[in-house]
Amino acid sequence: MNTSRDRIHYFDNNATTPLDPVVAEAMADFLRRHFGNPSSLYPIGREVKELINEARQAVASALGAMRSEIVFTGSGTEADNFAVLGVLDARPERKELVVSAIEHPAVLEAARYVEQKGHRVLYVPVSAEGVIDLDFLRDAVTSRTALVSIMHVNNELGTIEPVAEAARIAHEHGALFHTDAVQSFGKLDFKASELDADLMSVSAHKIYGPKGVGALFIRKGTDIRPFLHGGHQERGLRAGTENTGGIIGFGRASRLLSEKVREDKKRINALSDRLREELRERIPKIRFNGHPVLRTKNTLNVALPGLEAEAVLLALATKGIFVSTGSACSEDSEDVSHVLTAIGLKPEIARSCIRISLGRFTTEEDVESLLRELPEIVDKLRRVSAFDPDREDE
Ligand SMILES: Cc1ncc(COP(=O)(O)O)c(C=O)c1O
Repeated sequence: MNTSRDRIHYFDNNATTPLDPVVAEAMADFLRRHFGNPSSLYPIGREVKELINEARQAVASALGAMRSEIVFTGSGTEADNFAVLGVLDARPERKELVVSAIEHPAVLEAARYVEQKGHRVLYVPVSAEGVIDLDFLRDAVTSRTALVSIMHVNNELGTIEPVAEAARIAHEHGALFHTDAVQSFGKLDFKASELDADLMSVSAHKIYGPKGVGALFIRKGTDIRPFLHGGHQERGLRAGTENTGGIIGFGRASRLLSEKVREDKKRINALSDRLREELRERIPKIRFNGHPVLRTKNTLNVALPGLEAEAVLLALATKGIFVSTGSACSEDSEDVSHVLTAIGLKPEIARSCIRISLGRFTTEEDVESLLRELPEIVDKLRRVSAFDPDREDE
C-alpha cells in the first residue's frame, strides 16, 4: 500500500498531526545551521540558548503565560508525570491526589504508581457524555489533597471538561490544580488564566509540530520538585540536554497557531458537521459518543453496533483511510477503553467504537472517501456477522 501523504486519507489527528511544512522548514534551517549545546558559554551555545528562549516565548504567548513559566519536556507524557510526581514530592504533608476516571494514561498510570507508593487517589466519575461529576469532586477535595488533575479535552471523546470550576474547587481547599491540555491546545482558543490552572501540559506533535517534545506550564510560585536529576537545564527543573530542533519546531508550531486556530476550527467544524450528518443518514444504528455540545468538533467517536472496531479499522486502512479505535496508547491492548467504560458503554458496544479525528490538513476529498467507504464496509461486515439492524436491540 502506498502511504505517501497524497495517497492517504488521515483521520487520526488526535493520535498525532502531520508536521506543518512551515515548521519542517524552520526545523531544517535550524538543524542545518546550529549544533551548539545551549549550556555552552561560547557564542554557538549562546545562540542556541537564545533561540530556545524565543521558542519558549512563543509557547508562552500561545498559552497566555510568561516565558519563565514554561519548562520544556520530552513529551506530553513527561509533562503529565512531572506535574503529578513533582507536586506530590513537594507537598509531603498532603497525601491525596484527585484525578478524573478518563485521564490519559500519562496521568492515570502516574496516579496508580503513587497509589502503590502509599498515596490515596480518588477517581472522579463522568456522566454518560463524558463530563466530570463536579459534586463528586466537591466531596473528594479536602485539606489533605495535594493536587487535582482534570484534563481539558478528552482525547477519545473530544469532551470539554469544566476545568475552571474544577480549579476553583481545588483552590478552595489549598490543593494545586493541573490540567492536561494536550488535546485542547491548538483546538480551542484559551489562556492559562481563564482555566485558572497552576500547571498545564501540552505537546508539540498535536499542534503540527514534531514528536518527542512537550512543555509544562508552571504558574509562578507553584510548589514543584524536579523529577529528572542531572544538569541545570530548564532552570534546574528538567535535567538533560535540550531537544533543540524539537523545541525550535514547537516554538514555530505555537506561533503558527495565532494565525491558524480560528481558520482551522471553522473549516474542521464544517467538515465534521457534514461527516456526522451524513454518517448518521447512511449507517443504521450508528451512535455518537461524547457530549453533543461541549466538545471539540474535530473528534467523532462512533459506535457501530454489531462490529469489532478493529475489523473496521483494518478494512478502512486497505482503502488508505486511517482512523483509530481509541487512544493511540491503548491500540495494542486487548482491554476495552477505560474512557468508554467510564461513560457506561457495554463492552460489546465499546469494542465497536472508532475514533475519527480531523485536523488542519483534512480535505473535502478525505471526507468524501470516508463517506463513500465506511457505510459500505459496515454493511459488508454486518452481513458477515449476521447483524440485523432492524431486529437488533441495542
Ligand atoms: C490527552 C493526552 N495527554 C497526553 C498525551 C501524551 O502526549 P505525548 O504523546 O506527547 O506523550 C496524549 C497523547 O495522545 C493525549 O492525548
